[in-house]
Amino acid sequence: MNLEELNKIAGAMVAPGRGILAADESSGTIKKRFDAIGVDSTPTSRRDYREFLFRSTEAMAKHISGVILYDETIRQEAADGTPLVKIIEKAGSLPGIKVDKGTKPLSFCPGEVITEGLDGLRERLVEYRELGAKFAKWRAVIDIGIGPVPSYTCIRSNAHALARYAALCQDEGIVPIVEPEVLMDGDHDIDRCYQVTEMVLKLQFEELYFQRVALEGMVLKPNMIVPGQKSAKRASVEEVAEKTVRVLKSCVPASVPGIAFLSGGQSDEEATAHLDAINKLGPLPWHVTFSYGRALQAAPQKAWSGKAENVAAAQRAFGHRAKMNGLAALGQWKADLERKAA
Ligand code: 13P
Repeated sequence: MNLEELNKIAGAMVAPGRGILAADESSGTIKKRFDAIGVDSTPTSRRDYREFLFRSTEAMAKHISGVILYDETIRQEAADGTPLVKIIEKAGSLPGIKVDKGTKPLSFCPGEVITEGLDGLRERLVEYRELGAKFAKWRAVIDIGIGPVPSYTCIRSNAHALARYAALCQDEGIVPIVEPEVLMDGDHDIDRCYQVTEMVLKLQFEELYFQRVALEGMVLKPNMIVPGQKSAKRASVEEVAEKTVRVLKSCVPASVPGIAFLSGGQSDEEATAHLDAINKLGPLPWHVTFSYGRALQAAPQKAWSGKAENVAAAQRAFGHRAKMNGLAALGQWKADLERKAA
């Protein structure tokens, strides 16, 4: 393992004012997003959509440090025959790849899931590295339910799989994004989210230690500490920021170069405001930025709606979200910047 190289890549992924575009929706998930805007999901429409995101030159160069791709996309070529990976690299951004194979029911734990994909992973990593991937992502899903959910079995099993994945990535020269996502579905309050996330992160770093993962060569992708979407008790931006920073400080060693949050179903502006408020509580021991899917793509998807004549407007919408989140990653965002652009 070349830890210096891994650390350099991890540092670039969380460089000040830049963050990650999660464009690794599986074919099933992107179909859902396209259905919502009335677009047929085909390999070509998926390519056209992602191509114009990656060709948003200014947004990519200034604010997007890396792009997480899906297996189909890392192999695709733009309409003019240029591999999409080359377009990302030319924009000054790093190509990455989602390598987990999604979730399956976890035996004896009703309602809970385990992320699969370890079998054959080393061979797949070698191929992805040849295709240009500098980093990878594996997402575990922890649901907060009633009674024993999440179970210790679910948290421990997922943390173990994530650590096995992270070790394999580092062994093959690829920086792992470790993503143990505590979902914001449900009616639990913010303190329950805190309590579950704390346990998830404590067990995660224990498993990473047992698998001999070098923390300097990884990026953590956690959820923020927020109330469940159906909770009647809402939380202010300041409370979310304060509780998120507190749990991270108590669980994430300072040797981790960066933390890049998922948006997880927060609105575009909420995800930005929260990230900004978190950074305003700095200096923090790590670079703290975004690795957003929905919170970066909802606006351009709506603006595009599958029409070639809307591409420029969709690129502007994407550029705007990338810029707002870039500022939030520096703790320099202001709500009136959103209104000015509207
Ligand atoms: P969201 O920001 O839409 O949660 O997506 C990020 C991601 O990559 C989830 O795995």
